[in-house]
Amino acid sequence: MGIFSSVRLRYAATGALCAAFILLPYLAIYHSPEALRLLSQSAFSQHLNRIFGKGSSQSSFLDGTLNFTQEELGNLQGVLKNASFKNKTVIITTLNQAWATQNSMLDLFLESFRLGEGTRDFLDHLVIVALDQVAHDRCTSVHKHCFTLRTDGVDFSGEKFFMTNDYLKMMWRRVDLLRVVLELGYNFVFSDADIMWFRDPFPHFSRDADFEIACDQYNGSPTDLDNRPNGGFVHVQANKRTIDFYKFWYKSREMYPGKHDQDVLNEVKFNSNFTDIGLKIQFLSTEFFGGFCQVSRDFDKVCTMHANCCTGLVRKIQDLRLVIEDWKRYKSMTDLEKQLQKVYWRAPRECLHSFGG
Ligand SMILES: *[C@@H]1O[C@H](CO)[C@@H](O)[C@H](O)[C@H]1NC(C)=O
Ligand SMILES: *[C@@H]1O[C@H](CO)[C@@H](O)[C@H](O)[C@H]1NC(C)=O
Ligand SMILES: *[C@@H]1O[C@H](CO)[C@@H](O)[C@H](O)[C@H]1NC(C)=O
Ligand SMILES: *[C@@H]1O[C@H](CO)[C@@H](O)[C@H](O)[C@H]1NC(C)=O
Repeated sequence: MGIFSSVRLRYAATGALCAAFILLPYLAIYHSPEALRLLSQSAFSQHLNRIFGKGSSQSSFLDGTLNFTQEELGNLQGVLKNASFKNKTVIITTLNQAWATQNSMLDLFLESFRLGEGTRDFLDHLVIVALDQVAHDRCTSVHKHCFTLRTDGVDFSGEKFFMTNDYLKMMWRRVDLLRVVLELGYNFVFSDADIMWFRDPFPHFSRDADFEIACDQYNGSPTDLDNRPNGGFVHVQANKRTIDFYKFWYKSREMYPGKHDQDVLNEVKFNSNFTDIGLKIQFLSTEFFGGFCQVSRDFDKVCTMHANCCTGLVRKIQDLRLVIEDWKRYKSMTDLEKQLQKVYWRAPRECLHSFGG
């Protein structure tokens, strides 16, 4: 029996009371797993309809693939609840062993929050999704909101080389998890751990967007689908359109085997099925949300700096150390000094010798 059935059962339990009344007699009569699956599916949909409003005809909420035991789902909900801002928004990152070891990516990521302007308190709202046991152990030793996402039969612990099979699996697993977070009613900012946070991003998010995504290359127009998005940093509001979109995105990987989430997004963004979802998508300017592909030149404006356009963990870390040092140097300057001498990023340096990422 699919583990996801227990998710459905949980929702059957917590869903609309009337659904429970309808369900209970059936549960007594049909106790085959399949019957339970179908019945609790309707309760789950009703539960979500209550949260998100009507009209979920286009999709049942249960055609996802991420299987949680009831315990895992309860745990995820608990972690999200503990970490959430009052407005049901969380910050999420994923972590594996290679990125979690001492003096590594995780340390730089967390350090950036402490060094940033007004970003330290965001650590109270950051959920680290650990993809293996070592990442889990390391997370719990340095951070308070950790969730462990297990995937049967896949070892996510080693460095995932760009575009290998395991790399792709890890990327798609993330898309699938974020869908579940949305279904649980949480808005989120997802950030890769190779993104340094130096300022509060929220003032730059649009009230009119469902889904905002950072760019490798930003062309100046926030609504132009020709921008080159980067899935490493997204802000997503939980609603029917975004849930449908995440399902569609995940499903679309079958049509484009061997491509990662970002490339598939580039493929499907002009597709009529995508347009039908009505997703309000916006692209974030690299002026605020920059990276090694296109750096944010103005230190007075930068919110985040991503080690994108770079493959290889060692190179990324070397260059992000420079980024942290440059930021510290900027922070130590007086206002007058900031006016008189322009600060430049020294990175990308090592990353210039790589591509992708
Ligand atoms: C989830 O469970 C279904 C049914 O048991 C199974 O076919 C599917 O492979 C599982 N998915 C994952 C990602 O484990
Ligand atoms: C949520 O926070 C409470 C209080 O700190 C803690 O006891 C509980 O274990 C946390 N829940 C999860 C799932 O982390
Ligand atoms: C949610 O709360 C955070 C912290 O108070 C704030 O920065 C953010 O703008 C809020 N988000 C929305 C959509 O209101
Ligand atoms: C849209 O979705 C339908 C049904 O899933 C599918 O048959 C069709 O190929 C999709 N269209 C495109 C342009 O991908």
